[in-house]
Amino acid sequence: MPLPPSVTVHAPATIANVGCGFDVLGLCLTAPYDTVHLRRTDRPGLSIRHLDDYDLPTDPNRNVAGAALLALLREVPEPLGFEVEITKGIRPGSGIGSSAASAAGAVVAANALLGNRFSHKELIGMAMYGEAVASGVQHADNIAPAICGGLTLVRAVLPVLDVVALPPPPLWVAVVHPQFEVRTQEARAVLPTTVPLALAVRQWANVGGLVAGFLTHDYELISRALEDYIVEPARASLLPGLGAARQRALEAGALGGGISGSGPSIFMLNKDEATALAAAAAMGSVYEKMGIEYHLHVGPIAAQGARVVAME
Ligand code: HSE
Repeated sequence: MPLPPSVTVHAPATIANVGCGFDVLGLCLTAPYDTVHLRRTDRPGLSIRHLDDYDLPTDPNRNVAGAALLALLREVPEPLGFEVEITKGIRPGSGIGSSAASAAGAVVAANALLGNRFSHKELIGMAMYGEAVASGVQHADNIAPAICGGLTLVRAVLPVLDVVALPPPPLWVAVVHPQFEVRTQEARAVLPTTVPLALAVRQWANVGGLVAGFLTHDYELISRALEDYIVEPARASLLPGLGAARQRALEAGALGGGISGSGPSIFMLNKDEATALAAAAAMGSVYEKMGIEYHLHVGPIAAQGARVVAME
């Protein structure tokens, strides 16, 4: 059967780090999402249009979806190009994987037009080129859940990409996105380059504890392990309201949480929907008092990542 010429994909927001797992843990949200539309052309190359107001670059080498698609095209022997239209539903600089969503959505869309010849792992490797355009670093902790869905652990990026898809626990996520921008590059510049061994021990104990808690659905363990001793203290000064938002969310019953990716969004994990709604409202009230506009997102961990919603 001939493959259709165009496809539309929804590529969801993601939460990188998940507390203590800097650059390695990530989970997938149900919303918001970017919409990526691809049309196949026989003319090699890419043309990119953004149907949103963010004034993002459309030069394929400087666009996150473009860089990811160029990586994919390098693996395709036949002459091929794409016309790309992107509608960003995830604000850039939000901390919920905006650049990863566009890059992941683009390669998932291209793969659908190529009869799904590439594996998830191969697509993650290609989409990471987009992440490098956005932040200067090829980290995969947003890309992996944006493509695989659920909860992911990036065990290694080099020399060989090694991603573990973990069965997602039945948790609900509350996110507050205060409407100011934190650039990932700047949030990485404030990080320490060395870590005292005693602190590293506490941190990897928490990463192990968190993964074990996710696998065994041990909510008390998840709660205890959701503490980041290394990255969050360095970034806290970039995030007014973080301490108060966490405190209010914990009082509302959240298990714990922290900075989503490099911020400014803050996430909390919760046992059920009602608690997640209460935690989100509690975090929102902190920004309300500070006079900072915010958006709230509440939903389960999404089992599916970027997905085809239409083939025309
Ligand atoms: N792990 C990355 C960081 C995610 O925290 O810098 C960026 O969204």
